[in-house]
Amino acid sequence: MGNFTILDTLEDLEPGDQQLVQAAVKASAQAYAPYSQFHVGAALLLDNGVIVTGANHENAAYPSCMCAERVAIYAAAAQYPGMSIRKLAVIALRGGVAPLVSASSCGPCRQVMLEFEHRQNTPMEVVFQAPDNRWVKTSTAASLLPFAFSKDNL
Ligand code: THU
Repeated sequence: MGNFTILDTLEDLEPGDQQLVQAAVKASAQAYAPYSQFHVGAALLLDNGVIVTGANHENAAYPSCMCAERVAIYAAAAQYPGMSIRKLAVIALRGGVAPLVSASSCGPCRQVMLEFEHRQNTPMEVVFQAPDNRWVKTSTAASLLPFAFSKDNL
């Protein structure tokens, strides 16, 4: 498990984190969310300095929806195989319009982050807005999933 840093405003995040949040905001413009109207954007920074983004994509068959975080993570894995993810930011906008609202990643996304963190064997920081509108930065993906299931259980 790792640590959480709680910050009152977006401006309190370090510049690199703010930049990643802005990339996530931009990515949310590509969300396809006609059912929930909940537009999510994710941006991740790879070890080679490249930023890869994703947005949520919904489907009339609801379980076929895919979250922004996993779109970004799997896109990075496909385009930059073996490249570690240093940090990931996720944001959400109701109806695609400001203000930003809490974007606390769902369980399956946390599980996928954890798998990648284990694979790359280096920490993946995660930045998101908490339900109280403050910003959270975790030092690891594992921080978001205590007592997680992993390959060690198999
Ligand atoms: N969503 C994400 O993209 N990321 C999350 O971690 C939580 C939820 C999306 C899925 C769906 O398109 C919409 O938000 C409402 O659940």
